[in-house]
Amino acid sequence: MIHAEAPALEIVNLRKNYRRLEALRGVDFVLQRGERLAFLGPNGAGKTTLIRALAGRTRPTAGTIKVLGHPIHSIGARQALGLVPQDLALYGDLTTRENLFAFGKFHGVPRRELKKRVAWALDWTGLKDRAGDLVAGFSGGMKRRVNLACGVLHRPKIILLDEPTVGVDPQSRQRIFTMLDQLNEEGASILLTTHHLDEAEQRSDRIVILDQGRVIADGTIDELVLSTVGHSRLVKVRIDRPLVAPVTVPGGGSVRSYQVGIAGREMIETRIDDVAVDLAPFLQAVRKDGYMVSDMEVHAPSLHHVFLHLTGNELRD
Ligand SMILES: Nc1ncnc2c1ncn2[C@@H]1O[C@H](COP(=O)(O)OP(=O)(O)OP(=O)(O)O)[C@@H](O)[C@H]1O
Ligand SMILES: [Mg+2]
Repeated sequence: MIHAEAPALEIVNLRKNYRRLEALRGVDFVLQRGERLAFLGPNGAGKTTLIRALAGRTRPTAGTIKVLGHPIHSIGARQALGLVPQDLALYGDLTTRENLFAFGKFHGVPRRELKKRVAWALDWTGLKDRAGDLVAGFSGGMKRRVNLACGVLHRPKIILLDEPTVGVDPQSRQRIFTMLDQLNEEGASILLTTHHLDEAEQRSDRIVILDQGRVIADGTIDELVLSTVGHSRLVKVRIDRPLVAPVTVPGGGSVRSYQVGIAGREMIETRIDDVAVDLAPFLQAVRKDGYMVSDMEVHAPSLHHVFLHLTGNELRD
């Protein structure tokens, strides 16, 4: 087949204007086959607009989208994609089972296969007991789980999820990710947007950060950390009495001697590059000045720091 080696998604210079508002201002990225990509960005960054464009729900102003090498509006592309939208798209006056059957038929799942898929979906959503109840009467988290099941029932090769775990309890969230891992192991590529940075950190191979319609970062967590906040660790030690004067940590190796701590505080903070080498001299210096260390925390840079570094502290909208 010609497109055997094409990536799952290939997006070039994607633009979307809503009148004068530029929601997407030239977005480029690739989703590799089998990859799990997390899309992050402040409110209004353009994440939903992008997902809707990828799913063919909104027409881009410019740019190209290729799905497994096929143009976006081809049958091949349509069949390959599964969308779990941010705004719930369910039939409230149908039961859970009826919704699942309706979406399955819509996606062309053969009837015999469909029964199995519906049973599978009811199992991982934990909604077996509510299979015959009308969806309109469900809690927000339950609706979201049905919404998710409807989007992945046909086992698409590429799954687009727009904030799939909003309002979902920790147990269900775990199940959702176990289910996504299963589909991923079977070869599905996953693109999800989320505001849960811990989720993105643990559940993705690569991160793309969108801000004001542009990609402002694209890489693995390690790459993003290194190119923004760096790999140094923040170390905090609690001491048994207020510090009288800053502590001098002697130099060694490539490190010069330095001073830490603020007089009057019972907490000393510093940054070190290499925990194995630099931590011991720091603690020894604190003890040498006559303080007992009662507690210690070491903070590695996280996606949270990267995100704030890149997108700032200002509210967006
Ligand atoms: N149908 C629409 N008509 C007009 N403007 C729109 C429409 N959809 C989105 N926008 C605008 O496009 C911009 C991007 O919105 P979008 O929903 O893509 O952001 P988002 O990154 O998904 O945000 P959130 O994290 O809040 O879900 C916003 O300024 C929004 O107001
Ligand atoms: Mg959104």
